Amino acid sequence: MILAAVVVSAAEYSREMLRKPFVIVGYMYSNGVRVSEVERFNTEGYLTKSLWVDEENDFAAGKAMFRGQCMICHTWSGYRSMDKLLKGRNKESLQSVLDMLHEYSPEYRFTQYMPPLVGTLAERKALAVWLENKAQLKGAEGEEKK
Ligand code: HEC
Repeated sequence: MILAAVVVSAAEYSREMLRKPFVIVGYMYSNGVRVSEVERFNTEGYLTKSLWVDEENDFAAGKAMFRGQCMICHTWSGYRSMDKLLKGRNKESLQSVLDMLHEYSPEYRFTQYMPPLVGTLAERKALAVWLENKAQLKGAEGEEKK
């Protein structure tokens, strides 16, 4: 029984790693974004009209970005937790992760696991602000002086 469980979970694990970041290789990413939609999402926006980023619903927009594009793989404090992944980072280093995920250069090694971050600059900014607040990240100026 135990051996069977180990074999199954090992197989599940490698299968999960293999198909990332796609559900259908070359066509659809794991978070439902189609390869053909990336360009349009980046120029016209990812969120629906009701959630277009403006000063008032920045926060809602950031959360909606996370729900739509990240939550399929990351939870906040459980599975592949953002809380842990963001621990010890500051705002600048979070921003650089998000930028690399958006630019999606194969040199950023996490592109093997994650789909590109899509959306307009304002939407990506909203996501960054939402994550910063939720994780209570400090800016570089807030770091301890050495
Ligand atoms: C298809 C699944 C998947 C999706 C969707 C996804 N991630 Fe990830 N992410 C991963 C995996 C797998 C890792 C590697 C985790 C590890 O090393 O434990 C990772 C790592 C990370 C890291 C750490 C990267 C580093 O450079 O250290 C951050 C930050 C992150 N993800 C944020 C996000 C954000 C923000 C989104 C949404 C825009 C997102 N992820 C969407 C699977 C995903």
